[in-house]
Amino acid sequence: MEKLTVKHDELTADQFIELWESVWGGAPTFEQVDLAMKHTLFRVSVFDGDRIAAMARMVGDLGLEYYIKDVVVRPEYQGKGIGRLLIGELMAFIDRSSVKGTTVFVELAAMPDKAPFYEKLGFSANEALRLRKMYEVGKC
Ligand SMILES: CC(C)(COP(=O)(O)OP(=O)(O)OC[C@H]1O[C@@H](n2cnc3c(N)ncnc32)[C@H](O)[C@@H]1OP(=O)(O)O)[C@@H](O)C(=O)NCCC(=O)NCCS
Repeated sequence: MEKLTVKHDELTADQFIELWESVWGGAPTFEQVDLAMKHTLFRVSVFDGDRIAAMARMVGDLGLEYYIKDVVVRPEYQGKGIGRLLIGELMAFIDRSSVKGTTVFVELAAMPDKAPFYEKLGFSANEALRLRKMYEVGKC
């Protein structure tokens, strides 16, 4: 592994899709991801030389609510502290962007096997259930 480089707001749709495919497969379309990148509050990416190793992004409104999305460390780079680094970058973004002296919500959804990772970083589950609808656009 070369020296890792952290980049802010440079993550592209192609890089997003590449990392998504490395862990989950079945990535969304370029058009969807490109739109999402443009409307994300903050994107962080980690490079090993010129190879993308990890990403995460923050959506939200800056005032009250932040939502962490798409935290992905490429499998061969996992277990080296990069996930912790990503969350640290997202939290530093909140510090830079929010109203000083206030408290904000920082939320995310995690599968049960990933919850311990977030718990180590200070997140905890509450009694709220996550409700969602996978909505097919134009089919209402
Ligand atoms: C979850 C993920 C982001 C963690 O990244 P990572 O770089 O491997 O994590 P780190 O090396 O920074 O680990 C930080 C700490 O969390 C722990 N940890 C990481 N993943 C864990 C897991 N699944 N269960 C329990 N502990 C975990 C590490 O042991 C480490 O603990 P330590 O500091 O006491 O040594 C990574 O495994 C990943 O990308 N997985 C696939 C995509 C995914 O599911 N993302 C989450 C979407 S909600």
